[in-house]
Amino acid sequence: MKVLITGSNGLLGQKLIHKLRVDDAVELVATSIGENRVSEKEGYSYISLDITNENELKKVIMFENPEVIINTAAMTNVDACEDQKEKCDIINVNAVKYLSDISTKINAHLIHISTDFIFDGENGPYSENDIPNPLSYYGLSKLKSETVLLESNCKWTVLRTIIVFGVAEHLSKGNIVLWAKEALEKGDSLNIIDDQFRAPTLAEDLADACILSFKKEKFGIFNASGKDIMSIYDMVERIAKYYNYSTDQLNRISTAKLSQKAVRPLKTGFILDKSIKELGYNPHSFEESLKIINEQLKSKII
Ligand SMILES: NC(=O)c1ccc[n+]([C@@H]2O[C@H](COP(=O)([O-])OP(=O)(O)OC[C@H]3O[C@@H](n4cnc5c(N)ncnc54)[C@H](OP(=O)(O)O)[C@@H]3O)[C@@H](O)[C@H]2O)c1
Repeated sequence: MKVLITGSNGLLGQKLIHKLRVDDAVELVATSIGENRVSEKEGYSYISLDITNENELKKVIMFENPEVIINTAAMTNVDACEDQKEKCDIINVNAVKYLSDISTKINAHLIHISTDFIFDGENGPYSENDIPNPLSYYGLSKLKSETVLLESNCKWTVLRTIIVFGVAEHLSKGNIVLWAKEALEKGDSLNIIDDQFRAPTLAEDLADACILSFKKEKFGIFNASGKDIMSIYDMVERIAKYYNYSTDQLNRISTAKLSQKAVRPLKTGFILDKSIKELGYNPHSFEESLKIINEQLKSKII
């Protein structure tokens, strides 16, 4: 089975490379903007590909003719999306339309990633059937991308996820768990929001949800987050406790005190019953994830 990944230099993309390059049933083609930033080059091919370039996208995908396309490429900086709405639409919406059109043509299964930010955070945790109401442009762009798929004729799966974290190489953006771990280790003073609730997701778990989707040929919308819902403050406190760092420098602040450009939902989190039952999704607990990260950081094997 041939699988093509977009955005393979990103956190989820790298995890998919590491899992699928050693899968004998899969021939893997990784693609991303620019050079391949993953140092392991065995077990897959790499093609530099910008998903917003429709002609190039068509050319590469039609030539490769994969059975499965996993779209991990996105504009993921929520505040930048608020500032650069047009750019956000081009990457997060228009390119998904290109991918769905190509997938229809070659009968490929398109797997796409969405977010808890499609919800307003008034009634979390959410099931797949709850009504979206995004507060930010990023959230709106991801909701529009879901609509593109709902209206398309291709075989598609949307996996909705929340705060993805993990260890990877040369990422263009950090993730909160590694950032907090490093800051706590240094003893930095940290102001952490205590009124936003999330279910943080180990990147490996999300990669597994992608793989389960195509191996089991499951289509439609699935929640694929971590299983533990906590405030951002609790998350950082649990990181401190797990790694035995002091919490003396940890201060609670409210969302209202932090003037972030994009409005964030207060309480999200997902009900995972459908993905557990239908996909066989089995995410790690938050502490199990911290253990995995610690081992990867120590061994330098991701
Ligand atoms: N991270 C989270 O907390 C989170 C939460 C909810 C949903 N999601 C969704 O999960 C998916 C994967 O996220 P992630 O954490 O792996 O994001 P990420 O680390 O930011 O990876 C995204 C990758 O896409 C690449 N990219 C950007 N524009 C591109 C383009 N036009 N063509 C090809 N590649 C392009 C980026 O390249 P560069 O590295 O060169 O910039 C980056 O490597 C995304 O759809 C995201 O919206 C993420």
